[in-house]
Amino acid sequence: MLFTNIWYVAESSDKVTDQPVSVRMLGRDFVLFRDSNGAPVCLSGVCPHRGADLSQGKCEPDGTVGCPFHAWRFDSTGKCTKIPSNKDPVGEIPTAARVDSYPTQEKYGYIWTFLGDDLENAAPILDIPEFEDPEWSKVTHAVTWNCNQHWAKQLDLDHVHLPIVHGIGFGGDNPVRPPDHTVEYRDDGGFGTKIVGKPDITKGKWLELRDTRSTVTSVFKYFVAGFTSRGKVAVGGVDNGTYNIFYQFTTPIDEENTRMYYTFFRNFMPGPEGDAEHLRRNCRNIYQDKSLAEKVMPKRAPDVPVYPTITADLEDKLIGAYWKVLQDLRNKGWQIDRVQLEALDKNGDYRTIPSPARRQDGPEEWVFEEIPRIAGIDKAQRDVA
Ligand code: FES
Ligand SMILES: [Fe+2]
Repeated sequence: MLFTNIWYVAESSDKVTDQPVSVRMLGRDFVLFRDSNGAPVCLSGVCPHRGADLSQGKCEPDGTVGCPFHAWRFDSTGKCTKIPSNKDPVGEIPTAARVDSYPTQEKYGYIWTFLGDDLENAAPILDIPEFEDPEWSKVTHAVTWNCNQHWAKQLDLDHVHLPIVHGIGFGGDNPVRPPDHTVEYRDDGGFGTKIVGKPDITKGKWLELRDTRSTVTSVFKYFVAGFTSRGKVAVGGVDNGTYNIFYQFTTPIDEENTRMYYTFFRNFMPGPEGDAEHLRRNCRNIYQDKSLAEKVMPKRAPDVPVYPTITADLEDKLIGAYWKVLQDLRNKGWQIDRVQLEALDKNGDYRTIPSPARRQDGPEEWVFEEIPRIAGIDKAQRDVA
């Protein structure tokens, strides 16, 4: 279950320097590089001449990427600007000598790319106010999980697993039951909730921050852009003013593998001396979740839950909200039709994710057609639904 028309984190900024970088997302191949001004560029990675992998080529001084096979050059708009073996290398370039170019933004230490053709109606990249604020120290982490993005994401959304998998109980009479909470939906298509409990943290540096009887608030938000979760946990208790804030950005590599990017902020243990402990603490939870998610069946997420999630007891509210978001994306016509796409792939018909330029230029202008998507329903019907 993969979706177009989403801003995804394509790579960490510092990984894209003076050579093209290969990135696989949504089961397709892309090339990332920087133009002559240092601005990031994301193109479909398959050369329209004879299908070579553009990320095996090189960045040219004129800001283009050169194909490794016959050195055709493609600029940041995806157009071929030079065919060196032509009699007049810049004169005779066919219109279809172009690849899809996807909008990119460099923000918060990442290169974000918009994989789709309907930028206007998509959820914008969220704000991360802590990023520029000297009050906050930060650490980052990235790891590939061998599971689909939704199984990875549900470990972030699920509160019930916290005491079971991580040993973080909620306190009270039944420490394995999440305290009552309500889900708030926002206009940007995301949602969030607040949990108030007395978690029993029993060891480690963070215990020193807190009187174990004090109340801890945990504010969770989900954003459609980047399939991002944000959690703000008052680790020192509500009155102490110390927080761990995590951002998790989920990028589907394909139907069964997911790149997980994390940025953690803290306003205690300042400076680089605190980084190792901050990362260790968060990574412990990440790798406990990862080993669990990688074994969840089926390997590919179905379009609708096969288990009674949405109707279950109130503790699974965020999971229910997440499936509603997926339903909404599907209704907009943004879900890739994986059955059809697999048949095309098997038949030797390579398809690309459509970029915004596909809405202006006719199909004759492209060598590769676009991936098939499941038909949406029109807006009036969606509003009723
Ligand atoms: S395959 Fe790319 S230039 Fe020929
Ligand atoms: Fe977890």
